[in-house]
Amino acid sequence: MSAPAFGPELMARLDELGRISGDQDRLNRQPFTPAHHAAIDRVAAWMQEAGMATRVDPIGNLIGRYQGLDSAAPVLLIGSHIDSVVDAGRYDGPLGILTGVAAVQALHDAGVHLPFAVDVVAFCDEEGVRFPTTFLGSKAICGTLDPAVLELRDKEGISVAQALTAFGGDPARLAEAAYAPGSIRAFLEVHIEQGPLLEAEERPLGIVTAIQGQSRLAVVLDGMAGHAGTVPMAHRRDALAGAAEAILAVERRCAASPDLVGTVGRIDAQPGAVNVIPGRAMFTLDVRAPNDTLRKAAVDEIVQTIQRIAASRGLGCTIGREHDQPATSCAPRVQRWLAQALRGEGVPVKYLSSGAGHDTMAMAEFCPAGMLFVRCKAGISHNPLESIAVEDADAAVRVVLRVLHDLAQPEASR
Ligand code: GLV
Ligand code: MN
Ligand code: MN
Repeated sequence: MSAPAFGPELMARLDELGRISGDQDRLNRQPFTPAHHAAIDRVAAWMQEAGMATRVDPIGNLIGRYQGLDSAAPVLLIGSHIDSVVDAGRYDGPLGILTGVAAVQALHDAGVHLPFAVDVVAFCDEEGVRFPTTFLGSKAICGTLDPAVLELRDKEGISVAQALTAFGGDPARLAEAAYAPGSIRAFLEVHIEQGPLLEAEERPLGIVTAIQGQSRLAVVLDGMAGHAGTVPMAHRRDALAGAAEAILAVERRCAASPDLVGTVGRIDAQPGAVNVIPGRAMFTLDVRAPNDTLRKAAVDEIVQTIQRIAASRGLGCTIGREHDQPATSCAPRVQRWLAQALRGEGVPVKYLSSGAGHDTMAMAEFCPAGMLFVRCKAGISHNPLESIAVEDADAAVRVVLRVLHDLAQPEASR
């Protein structure tokens, strides 16, 4: 077998980008931070090497444009997100950006321009870890970002608008980030699978058919802080004990439906001292299912259960619904393009759905959008052990390149 042509450089770049972090010893790249800035500077340099003109839009998306022969033709958008979770792997997000850059680099090296422009985008925020919102970048591009999110605040009390302004973005010009309706031919996102299916079936790549819906909530329980040594157990209004009971109820409810998953990923107790009964507890809730009716019914039930638990313990209860994203189907035409390219590359065609959320969910409301999954070692993701094989990275670039060439054919389906 000959050495992969694109894989080694792509993997080296993913390693390099994975070292650009806000933390010393782990990958943590939150939107509008110095690490975000450093990362887009690095990617912009690679985009320019590949013949792209780069810009950062008012919401902080980096966009590289590789000109097409017909400047009026709708552009093909390729990309993913540059933000990360805390203690992240290096492929979730950057793989989709740098695969796009590698494919364009190949066009540039060959001196080829397509009938349409290719835009490669590094979305500013997909994980929704810093602010209680998500898809800031992809929604802005689609013109669907509610300006009210600019007032949402991170844990330090910094609003999206303040963070964006300090980053060099411009909240007042948010609307200018939007592409005109009809100006995007399609959006294509390459992403690590983040699950075990492709590996189990020994397939390098898969075509995503649909992405499950998700709800994110923030729960605050208010009790009464007090002395850990003097307040008898029966007199307590312990907010953290209430949260513990609620979290186990969430786990039980979600385990009861095979298609439902529910996660409490963050919890905080105040005032947070060993000898003080917690007066306030806050936790997040993430509930997902492929079926929106099932998800919404489960969320309503969980909310009622938490309210009941709070009432039975004399706790105040506030539940904020932060994010509600319906399940999304990937565009049949993008699936067809990918299937044709996989066959052309001699890669078996495999279809699968996505449990994780993706910018494709936001993009699909605006233009035909689809995804190519890359095999993930042991299905591990949102974890520094996240890993892909160089051969699979190489195959992903070849497939994207082939999609570009196929779409350049006069008879290509639109
Ligand atoms: C993003 O990775 C998500 O699915 O939460
Ligand atoms: Mn991702
Ligand atoms: Mn992720």
